[in-house]
Amino acid sequence: MPASLDGPGGAQFLEYAAMSNAVENHALGTDVLSMAPAEMLAEYRDNPHRVRRHRVVREGGRIVARAMVTLRPHLPGNGAHLMVDVLPAHRGRGIGATLLEAAERIAVDAGAPVLKVAVAHSAVSGGDRIASPTGFGDVAAHDDGVRFLTSHGYALEQITRISLLELGSAPELEAPAPPDHRVVTWVGPTPSAWIDDLAALRTRMSTDAPSGALVELEDPWDAARISEHDERIAGSGRTALTAAAEHVPTGALVGFSELLCSDAAAVAIQEDTLVLREHRGRRLGTLLKVATADLLRTHAPGVETVVTWNAEENRPMLDVNEAMGFRAIGYEGAWQRRL
Ligand SMILES: CC(C)(COP(=O)(O)OP(=O)(O)OC[C@H]1O[C@@H](n2cnc3c(N)ncnc32)[C@H](O)[C@@H]1OP(=O)(O)O)[C@@H](O)C(=O)NCCC(=O)NCCS
Repeated sequence: MPASLDGPGGAQFLEYAAMSNAVENHALGTDVLSMAPAEMLAEYRDNPHRVRRHRVVREGGRIVARAMVTLRPHLPGNGAHLMVDVLPAHRGRGIGATLLEAAERIAVDAGAPVLKVAVAHSAVSGGDRIASPTGFGDVAAHDDGVRFLTSHGYALEQITRISLLELGSAPELEAPAPPDHRVVTWVGPTPSAWIDDLAALRTRMSTDAPSGALVELEDPWDAARISEHDERIAGSGRTALTAAAEHVPTGALVGFSELLCSDAAAVAIQEDTLVLREHRGRRLGTLLKVATADLLRTHAPGVETVVTWNAEENRPMLDVNEAMGFRAIGYEGAWQRRL
């Protein structure tokens, strides 16, 4: 990976980013999820908790396909995430199969016991469908990615709904704080007073979100990891807007919700939202989402839309989002192959 977009290797990375965005835009029929190259570069560069390996195929000098392998060296049992993208005009000639084989080899050599894929599928209804074993959601059997993954031995494990909120037409929700809780908010890096609490919440997030039969081990966070994460976000021109719920009698944070926005984009990305199990059912989820929407209006007035990803079986979170005005724009499949 290049050190920067305008240094050596920067032009090649820009081409790589455009190619990867083009494949996702083609599947979803919108470019609303296109990632800015600077943000992609920040997420693709190795960090202490995530390493990524890339392969590209060129034809006529242009990048037409790529494979990416994501490994978490501190959590080998969690396996590897793979991604293969082939530009539509270059499909059906074995490029995908060759890249998948290369990606799987990298993962197997790294000792991964399970291979996982999360990918946007074409948002068409009707026709033959493959149902999620969770009982919630399905995908079109004729989608290129669905055919490819099933024929290479991957099993569909879960459907993720991608939803979008147009802020201009969003209803204003009322969510009074329950008696023992109050909302705290911050913009940018995590205040030092909350770092340990947030690390505990992010650790819980790794296992508390519904994940069907996907292998998901607890992914521990500490203060150093929070700092690295916050620096990476800020270093790529993004700002995190965070609302957290404090349980006043204990002084501990028991939930949080985080949005990422950037000066360059009119779209904000909803990142994690979590309310610890023992504090659920008090409308804290709604309270946190309303608080982050308020932060957006104050600190990022250029943002027009928010995008979020939720497991199709995650009714409590979908209820909150639907009440806020989020509507589905597409679906991702979470696939897995145990080795
Ligand atoms: C899925 C994807 C990577 C496949 O790329 P691809 O280069 O078309 O893959 P392949 O050519 O190896 O295989 C695709 C089909 O072409 C067939 N094929 C391969 N070589 C062929 C050849 N020489 N002649 C005719 N058919 C051929 C394969 O048998 C396969 O057929 P099937 O769909 O009936 O199973 C591509 O469609 C894509 O980028 N989709 C969007 C992203 C995605 O879903 N990625 C998968 C997640 S990892």
